[in-house]
Amino acid sequence: MKIAFVGVGFVFDIYMRTKWAHEEMEVCGVFDINRARAETVGKHYGFHVYPDYETLLADPAVDIVVNLTNIDAHYGVTKQALEAGKHVYSEKPLATQVEHARELFALAESKGLVFTSAPCNVFSDAVSTMWKAVRDGVVGKPVLVYAELDDNPVHLMRTEDVRSPTGAPWPYVEEFEQGCTFEHVGYHLVWICAMFGPVTSVTAFSKALIEHKTDAPLSPADTPDYSVGCLHFANGMAARITCSIVAPRDHRLRIIGEEGELMADSYRHFQSPVFLERFSTVSLNARKFYSIRTQPLLARLFGVGGQKLPLLRQWKSHAVEADRAGKSSLKHKILGAIRRREIYAQDKLLGIAEMIRAIEAGKPQPLSPDFLMHVNELTLLIQRAGPDGFHAKPTTTFTPFDPLPAVANAPRNYKASYKPTFLERALDRLFQGINKS
Ligand SMILES: NC(=O)c1ccc[n+]([C@@H]2O[C@H](COP(=O)([O-])OP(=O)(O)OC[C@H]3O[C@@H](n4cnc5c(N)ncnc54)[C@H](O)[C@@H]3O)[C@@H](O)[C@H]2O)c1
Repeated sequence: MKIAFVGVGFVFDIYMRTKWAHEEMEVCGVFDINRARAETVGKHYGFHVYPDYETLLADPAVDIVVNLTNIDAHYGVTKQALEAGKHVYSEKPLATQVEHARELFALAESKGLVFTSAPCNVFSDAVSTMWKAVRDGVVGKPVLVYAELDDNPVHLMRTEDVRSPTGAPWPYVEEFEQGCTFEHVGYHLVWICAMFGPVTSVTAFSKALIEHKTDAPLSPADTPDYSVGCLHFANGMAARITCSIVAPRDHRLRIIGEEGELMADSYRHFQSPVFLERFSTVSLNARKFYSIRTQPLLARLFGVGGQKLPLLRQWKSHAVEADRAGKSSLKHKILGAIRRREIYAQDKLLGIAEMIRAIEAGKPQPLSPDFLMHVNELTLLIQRAGPDGFHAKPTTTFTPFDPLPAVANAPRNYKASYKPTFLERALDRLFQGINKS
């Protein structure tokens, strides 16, 4: 299908990193209110540059508008595209008011159009593996989720100097003004709600902790840079999600069940290793020991932290395994490989690919409008909780759904293939012997 991008700033270059793996989408062109920026991008990637948004929307070749504008522009830009009869894929959060989100989905439905949004890490290999493993029963009954999104005290990291490959500055003023919760909490909410269903109550706290992050004037100046949301799910589970740009980086995803724990290192790495620990008396007792907890080799011997699971592979897994968008010098290849292995590897086009796949198959979108409205509302509730804390029941909900068929029907069974370590087996017999003596 044919797509056009509106808003081609910093994140656009991240979208382009995996374009080489997405032959199912053809780019008709780009538009940005920053004309110079649009020209730079058009020249670099060889894309047509529309002179204004109206011309882009009037182009009959364009099937899908991809909205990568700044957060406050999302609603207006998406609305205009839907009114012009285009399907829309929007960056998150798709709207800053629940009523706006409702209005956009109603508009899309009335016109028979698809409106869907980022984040798409819910389709990543890491999340797919966790989802399949949970369904296989590896942790028993899941009861608790801990999700971390501490993204470093970025104000100490010379963010003013950060540039995308085609020179777009990282919009640090916007990031501080909108806040880390608006920017990030959706990455965790999508996988948690997809796996465990709708939330029935939110208890949250948010606050601006670092008073001076930049010399640039901020409006507002007190957007929370820290938030914690405690969620209660209709299925009885609980989750705690922390977001900050105060504490050092921690992006972990943890699912704790009655029989074990699943853990992945980062939502931002689509092939983040996933570890499974099936609780044993040995692993649970061993982690009381400082040396075992802090020495990876010892920990592994006793089963603490679990075993690495083979990742499920998807139709677009290869997209994050190579980088063909940038310069092809040896230096860039080495730097790209280090980034993909060590820092992040995301296929931001994967959400659009799944959108296109569903449209072409005449199937409903994998993420329903109700689901996306729910994630959007939870985002707004957590961000706006404030320092006195806040408790609310969301007004939105959705019908729980299954993972994509390739995940749900994957032949691998993670529970059946799990083997406790040699020490766990040997020491377990010893413990049993002691208990019986
Ligand atoms: N920066 C990141 O690392 C990152 C990562 C993931 C998602 N996002 C999301 O992507 C979106 C864009 O972020 P960004 O970092 O690229 O910001 P940015 O400021 O670098 O780019 C946004 C671009 O949109 C353009 N724009 C704004 N309003 C417009 C309008 N009405 N019509 C046309 N163009 C318009 C701006 O001129 C700018 O070039 C945000 O929703 C953000 O949350 C950003």
